[in-house]
Amino acid sequence: MSTIPAVSVSLQVNVGGLIMKNPVTVGSGTFAYGQEYDQYFDIAQLGAVTTKSLSLVPRAGNKPPRLVETPAGMLNAIGLQNVGIEAYLREKLPYLRQKGCTIIGNIYGHAPEEYAALAARLEAEQGADAIEANLSCPNVHDARKARGCTLVAQAPEQVAEYTQAIRQATKLPLFIKLTPNIIDIAEPALAAQEAGADGISIINTLLGMGIDPETRRPILSNIVGGLSGPAIRPVAVKMVWDCARALRIPIIGMGGICTASDALQFILAGARAVAVGSYSFRQPDAALRVVRGLEDYCQRHQVEDINQLVGAMQV
Ligand SMILES: Cc1cc2nc3c(=O)[nH]c(=O)nc-3n(C[C@H](O)[C@H](O)[C@H](O)COP(=O)(O)O)c2cc1C
Repeated sequence: MSTIPAVSVSLQVNVGGLIMKNPVTVGSGTFAYGQEYDQYFDIAQLGAVTTKSLSLVPRAGNKPPRLVETPAGMLNAIGLQNVGIEAYLREKLPYLRQKGCTIIGNIYGHAPEEYAALAARLEAEQGADAIEANLSCPNVHDARKARGCTLVAQAPEQVAEYTQAIRQATKLPLFIKLTPNIIDIAEPALAAQEAGADGISIINTLLGMGIDPETRRPILSNIVGGLSGPAIRPVAVKMVWDCARALRIPIIGMGGICTASDALQFILAGARAVAVGSYSFRQPDAALRVVRGLEDYCQRHQVEDINQLVGAMQV
């Protein structure tokens, strides 16, 4: 019987200046502010904890029903419910810092100036080690949408404008979170890169809706929501691949990741890091299991540095 010699594996990655001890974080909005999951596993073992989108003032989100299961995932229209930046800094941050977590602070605003203010505030209070700007939430009704506008992330020139504003406000590594609800995701990704982003996070949810035939009413109070989970994984892997070929800056890949094997698809397609999203609702320690599974894969395949796998799909 042949045995594979043990190799010492490094899982550390550098995502646009953010050093992560392993390439695994969590999808914003699926992990709250971390503390709730700490009862299931030591959250400091993740490469980073990504917060729920933070806004300048607290948001109550949309009316229920705002979450519904789908055949291979879920539809949500939470509407960016969050405690607001000040309560985050006061009540959530100390726990994450005392645990020694690396923090990606996800932010959401109604205008470039709001994003800039949020990023500056997070940096000033050491509230995050990197910023992820959510330019792609499908579940909010704001003034722009009322005027018939689309998501910021659907318009490359707006992505550039927002990215520039945030870039001027912070020196922290800056990731721009983009939407899959677009024909060519490489276009806004390139716009973010040229405007000074250090990385991109893809993908946010795909627009979807459901109708209850008995009542003839929409299943979500918001009518339209965002589809996540395994159903969107092939779409997400393809978009990571599209962006990896077009960009210099690194990619945080997400969309339906449940296992290390899923995560490896994203890494081989070109993602430097990955995020476990909705699957944490089903299996709270899923992200940690992905870390362990990546280490096991590297051992089995004699890969000493996980960076060797980034974009290493063989065609
Ligand atoms: C309930 C729920 C809430 C979410 N809230 C946010 C959010 O506040 N900000 C954000 O950038 N993305 C948010 N997302 C998107 C996820 O971070 C992730 O991009 C998406 O769900 C795809 O990953 P998954 O299929 O692994 O869930 C949310 C997703 C879900 C399911």
